[in-house]
Amino acid sequence: VSISKILCTGYVRKYPVYLSKDGAFGDLPGLLPNTRKRFIIADKKVIELFPELMDRLKADNGVVFPIVADEDHKTFGELERLCGKIFGLKPCRDDAIVAVGGGLVMNLAGLTASLVMRGIRFCHVPTTLTGQIDACIGSKQAVNFMGAKNWIGTYSDPELCYVNPGFLRTLEKREMNSQAIEGVKLCLATDRELFYETFGMLEGFHSLSTERLGEFVRRMISAKLAVLKKDLMEKDYGMCMLYGHTAGHAIEMLNHKSMNHGEAVGLGMLVAAKISNLLGISDDGLVRTHEEILSRLGLPKRIPSSTSISAIEEMLKYNKKNYSGKIPFILLRGVGEMAERDGNYFSIVPKETVREAIKALY
Ligand SMILES: NC(=O)c1ccc[n+]([C@@H]2O[C@H](COP(=O)([O-])OP(=O)(O)OC[C@H]3O[C@@H](n4cnc5c(N)ncnc54)[C@H](O)[C@@H]3O)[C@@H](O)[C@H]2O)c1
Ligand SMILES: [Zn+2]
Repeated sequence: VSISKILCTGYVRKYPVYLSKDGAFGDLPGLLPNTRKRFIIADKKVIELFPELMDRLKADNGVVFPIVADEDHKTFGELERLCGKIFGLKPCRDDAIVAVGGGLVMNLAGLTASLVMRGIRFCHVPTTLTGQIDACIGSKQAVNFMGAKNWIGTYSDPELCYVNPGFLRTLEKREMNSQAIEGVKLCLATDRELFYETFGMLEGFHSLSTERLGEFVRRMISAKLAVLKKDLMEKDYGMCMLYGHTAGHAIEMLNHKSMNHGEAVGLGMLVAAKISNLLGISDDGLVRTHEEILSRLGLPKRIPSSTSISAIEEMLKYNKKNYSGKIPFILLRGVGEMAERDGNYFSIVPKETVREAIKALY
């Protein structure tokens, strides 16, 4: 069989995630819901890369809205523009939106769908690795607002997700390898067995066969599904999704021109592992495992020398969960096991320890 189906826990209901191996995407049109009109919100670059697929999606009363996928276009203005376009086409309740692109396009299209007439159906067709293993499941739809990331949004469930590793062949090596980190992060924090099953795939990750890549994607999705089942709203256990993000965000903000999200999160994970080690929560082996992950994926293991410790510390103060000078981190006791106290997964770390951990990474 070239297609399999997993049910995903959503915000209000379960929905199917289809995992397809059909290299020509021929099975996609048949999976989409019947509609009078189909509004296809698609990444401009993807439209150029996969013209035949776009033609097939359009054939069934489809209208295509191309999106420039950069954060400056993930805005309220773009949301309003899309609503206006759809309004002009006299939509009805039975119509549906199909999002074709990375996390950015899916977030924008999902939010549009959740607002038009109080919600019409939408389907996610993720074309990036982040899109496939992270953004298409979790039900979070959003746009940026006044410079604040994902500030305006809703929780709303797609009708279905269509995941096909064939889309990933056109991603650049740096994109692929850095996008893998969010999946690895989740296994590392929550599932020892899954992590070690996958660890070996990280070497030469970019040149894995499409078949093996599909296997990687399936495993990372299953790691996220297990988390969503327990805590979709990220109240407690779901905070594992923030592993590596405390220091990662600070490093990303200070290097947003030269470093992407995955690269900064990778370093943030290494900072967290160093902290666990300094606090005696975990052993040296955990730090070495982190370093090995970054080596295999070819991601940076050192903080850029142009980024000073004091600048990072200043940024950490802006962390939303900062408590009077002590900084909250998700820490691991070991692979697959988060440090936790009374159901609280944030460990409050003295700033001296944070400083020492960061200092070791120059
Ligand atoms: N809602 C969630 O749970 C969630 C999770 C993770 C990320 N996100 C959001 O997703 C966005 C990041 O998503 P992303 O990493 O998928 O990147 P993206 O959607 O920003 O796309 C990155 C780049 O890849 C290009 N691209 C897309 N598909 C391609 C393909 N098949 N081949 C070649 N190039 C392709 C795009 O045009 C773009 O230039 C952020 O806005 C983030 O906030 C949301
Ligand atoms: Zn992230």
